[in-house]
Amino acid sequence: MPLELDIDAILADLSVRIIVCCGPGGVGKTTTAAALALRAAEQHGRRTVVLTIDPARRLAQSLGLVELDNTPRQVKGVAGNELFAMMLDMKRTFDEVVLAHTNPRRAEEIFANPFYQAMSSTFAGTQEYMAMEKLGQLRAADEWNLIVVDTPPSRSALDFLDAPARLARFLDGRMLRLLLAPARAGGRSMFNLVTAASGLFSKAFQKILGAQLLTELSGFVSALDSTFGGFRDRADETYRVLQDRETAFLVVAAPEQDGLREAAFFARRLGEERMPLAGLILNKVHQVEAPGLDAETSLSAATRLDELGDHAATADTLRIHAALLQQTVRESRVAAEFRAAHPAVAVAIVAALASDVHDLDGLREIGAALTD
Ligand SMILES: Nc1ncnc2c1ncn2[C@@H]1O[C@H](COP(=O)(O)OP(=O)(O)OP(=O)(O)O)[C@@H](O)[C@H]1O
Ligand SMILES: [Mg+2]
Repeated sequence: MPLELDIDAILADLSVRIIVCCGPGGVGKTTTAAALALRAAEQHGRRTVVLTIDPARRLAQSLGLVELDNTPRQVKGVAGNELFAMMLDMKRTFDEVVLAHTNPRRAEEIFANPFYQAMSSTFAGTQEYMAMEKLGQLRAADEWNLIVVDTPPSRSALDFLDAPARLARFLDGRMLRLLLAPARAGGRSMFNLVTAASGLFSKAFQKILGAQLLTELSGFVSALDSTFGGFRDRADETYRVLQDRETAFLVVAAPEQDGLREAAFFARRLGEERMPLAGLILNKVHQVEAPGLDAETSLSAATRLDELGDHAATADTLRIHAALLQQTVRESRVAAEFRAAHPAVAVAIVAALASDVHDLDGLREIGAALTD
């Protein structure tokens, strides 16, 4: 008997204070996070904040997020008025971290540094780190009964776990000092060393910084280093929160082979890190209108209609039905394979809705599907 993921039980469980929606790119993390938060507020009466990352414009608008101001805003039109939403402003969150740890004059120096400017807005991993940073802030504010966290659009769900530690290690200065040492003697070659050693720099980033890099980099590192070192400590602290029973991880995945392989990696990693996986949400699962009509019959009927002529639209509908049916067969097969390989992972299934989800009603529909 497959294990069903009981979303309402999670939302009703007051000991769960943080829900993190992870998954590969484009699978519905942001949508799911918003739908869970709305349901927690409306059906479970919990004062909830959802931290969204890069929400689609229309969804942001329906959550009342017209500008990126990095603070939770009350969402209008929600029963009970207990839903708040915000969009992560990665750069501003980084600035807040700096301001919180140094005096204003020192902060100005750091802000003016081109390396800081580039890193706080483009560095790979900064978004993941700042999402965790913001989660820490929201949690410390002690104002929310439930915090739902969306995660950045990464290629891999694992980036959410890996990037903060990578960035923290980098900012911790030890590695940079090590890498900068030969640079002072040898000049530019050091940049290659950094690139090769860490893989942290994107091409665009190299272009922005170019020859000036060394001076800026050492200035930046010493400024950060002397004001506050412990980026890694902060990342460690957030890790501890993520390991606590107050947190529930939900992996969102599409019902296809690569997505589920990715979800399996992620589930295994969470296990290794002793982070609590609540379950898997299979999102955008397809359904057919007329399940009784099999693919073979509808394809041969389409061919027959073609021969008769003059029924092109009906023939097309039959072919679409057949293709959709084949897709649902594929989807059920990969889902069954996942369940067989991971019998301990509870699964919830959400159908692909007819259109994009961009308003509260759409989110309610997803919330209902999640708990069906
Ligand atoms: N069950 C669903 N049915 C129909 N459309 C959906 C469903 N879930 C999500 N969508 C749509 O799919 C698109 C991608 O969803 P979403 O932005 O939530 O994904 P994401 O995982 O956050 O993506 P990214 O990795 O880019 O952040 C959106 O247009 C959304 O409205
Ligand atoms: Mg998203």
